[in-house]
Amino acid sequence: MSAPTFRETIDEIRREFPPAKAGVRSLADLKAVRDRFLGRKQGRLNAALKLVAAEPAAHRAEFGRLANALKDEIEAALGALETELAAAAPVAGAVDVTLPGRVPPAGRRHPLTFVRERIERIFLGMGYQIVTGPELEDDWHNFEALNMPAEHPARDMQDTLYLATPVPPADAGRPATLLRTHTSGMQIRYMQAHPPPVRIIAPGRVYRRDNFDATHTPMFTQVEGLVVDEGVSLGDLKGTLQAFADRFFDATVATRFRPSFFPYTEPSAELDVECQGCRGAGCALCKHTGWIEVLGCGMVHPAVFEAVGYDAERYTGFAFGVGIERLALRLYGIDDIRMFYENDLRFLEQVRR
Ligand code: DAH
Repeated sequence: MSAPTFRETIDEIRREFPPAKAGVRSLADLKAVRDRFLGRKQGRLNAALKLVAAEPAAHRAEFGRLANALKDEIEAALGALETELAAAAPVAGAVDVTLPGRVPPAGRRHPLTFVRERIERIFLGMGYQIVTGPELEDDWHNFEALNMPAEHPARDMQDTLYLATPVPPADAGRPATLLRTHTSGMQIRYMQAHPPPVRIIAPGRVYRRDNFDATHTPMFTQVEGLVVDEGVSLGDLKGTLQAFADRFFDATVATRFRPSFFPYTEPSAELDVECQGCRGAGCALCKHTGWIEVLGCGMVHPAVFEAVGYDAERYTGFAFGVGIERLALRLYGIDDIRMFYENDLRFLEQVRR
């Protein structure tokens, strides 16, 4: 058997290269194939080129070109394959299935939701019902029926956001002309629709014309409370709110009722709770007073009962309004209300539950 000619060798390489290339699975395989065909000493193409010298002189130039063209072709094919393998390298076969998976961050309730639900749970436990109502409100429910007729100076206690155009009510009521400034209008809405006895809380958003600063936001959250029945007394108000404060702060907390003024209650008071940060000694949280303001409250004013058609001779009641943000600030020892609305995960994830 004679040694293979140049032609035969070239044809053999053309036949052998495609299946060799198809068998490449890794960069190591690729290197072996490259050595086999393009290697300087053992490479098939260099061997073929050496055979050119043994061919008749008339063919040498053509055969040289042929061999070099094939070499370029193989080089290009292997180069492309190498790029492909390098890009896919971390996948196929390289996955360590024993590595623990990545745990996606768990979502949780916003601190304001947490505080609202904490308040709701306490009052549900005392037999209260939870009711909600519209944030777009009419003047009568927000002010007038709460003993604040037009021109009443108490309206200036809250800077109101009015609608440019009144909108029709969602229920059978007056057209909405403002964003409610407090949840107290829910007292009116509930009593209009239900005869006594009443025992409700009404959580919800309220709006005031305030700029953003450390202690103000144009929107915040309140929980309104209302109890009406025969023989409801100031003692009931004090006992209920003391029980609420103890449960909210999870301790037997010292409280004090400071005389105050609200048009819809008489007498009116504000409830202070001994600062839980310093136990009344005075600290930055309580502005060194030892007390923190928790809510406004009082005995329902007879004019309010008259507005909703309740018999003010027969029934008495108490009401209160809690600001959720303010309680949350105290509960978490935070000094800037805006943190609740910036939704910075670094803050939200830290909040103690
Ligand atoms: N509406 C009051 C406010 O927005 C809070 C309040 C005070 C509600 C006394 C009441 C109350 O029901 O009796 O600041």
